[in-house]
Amino acid sequence: MTGLYFSGTGNTKHCVEEFVRYFDSKNQTVSIETPNIDNILANEDVIILGHPTCFSNAPKIVRDYIKNHTEIFAAKKVFIIVTMGLFSGDGAGCSARILRKCGAEIIGGLHLRMPDCIGDNKMLKKTLEENKSLVKQADIKIQSAAKQLKEGKPFKEGLNLFYHIAGLFGQRLWFYGKSLSYKDKPDINVKKCTGCGLCVKNCPMKNIEKREETIIHKKRCTMCYRCVNNCPARALTILGKKIYEQCLFEKYK
Ligand SMILES: Cc1cc2nc3c(=O)[nH]c(=O)nc-3n(C[C@H](O)[C@H](O)[C@H](O)COP(=O)(O)O)c2cc1C
Ligand code: SF4
Ligand code: SF4
Repeated sequence: MTGLYFSGTGNTKHCVEEFVRYFDSKNQTVSIETPNIDNILANEDVIILGHPTCFSNAPKIVRDYIKNHTEIFAAKKVFIIVTMGLFSGDGAGCSARILRKCGAEIIGGLHLRMPDCIGDNKMLKKTLEENKSLVKQADIKIQSAAKQLKEGKPFKEGLNLFYHIAGLFGQRLWFYGKSLSYKDKPDINVKKCTGCGLCVKNCPMKNIEKREETIIHKKRCTMCYRCVNNCPARALTILGKKIYEQCLFEKYK
């Protein structure tokens, strides 16, 4: 068993690591951003795939990763873990539908509420204690889901028709356009930016470039919020205009 994840701000990384560790502390967990992981995954029968929900869909970077690596997933057993701030409907179902087209067998799905990572939106913000409590509850659910998979009775969250309808009508129809393609983001406040280059280094899409004393972004943003939540100058925003909180998993464990 190997854990495989995409995580903008650390929530999903933590959840996949916890799940996989339950089976054997020596099990590996790797990011889809790590180079040359194809050979690690090639020899595995079971992959635990984790990703955040993005407007009730799998992030574009994850959907593209699966489509560009069909050979990795063919004939594999895949258990899907989806993290979310509030609600995803059929979060696991979104990636399951693509994975099945690659020939993967979906053995289960787990939905986990975690701290919201949209640092420039006030709506879903919680206190530090509330976020810590969310992580604790998620950890308990992870243990229970891992135990059930071990016993051959895996959680199937996100995978049936009921979830599909909830995902579609609960949210995806209204926000469908937002998750279809990569974006021309983030917005930079040039007065605040110090040109430190951290966002350039961290972006999973190589969407940000340093040009002389400033940075520019291209049109390949997957809206993971990593740059926004890590910028020391709070100079970046995406959906909002102001930073309310820099949301990073390390603060909540
Ligand atoms: C652009 C964007 C869209 C999101 N859409 C949803 C959503 O539709 N439903 C939800 O419950 N959470 C949503 N979230 C919250 C994240 O799914 C959640 O915070 C997740 O745990 C982040 O995981 P990560 O730290 O591994 O990136 C969204 C976050 C971002 C950045
Ligand atoms: S991380 Fe922030 S301060 Fe540093 S270069 Fe990027 S936008 Fe500027
Ligand atoms: S620009 Fe920022 S939000 Fe967009 S993909 Fe890169 S790190 Fe993520």
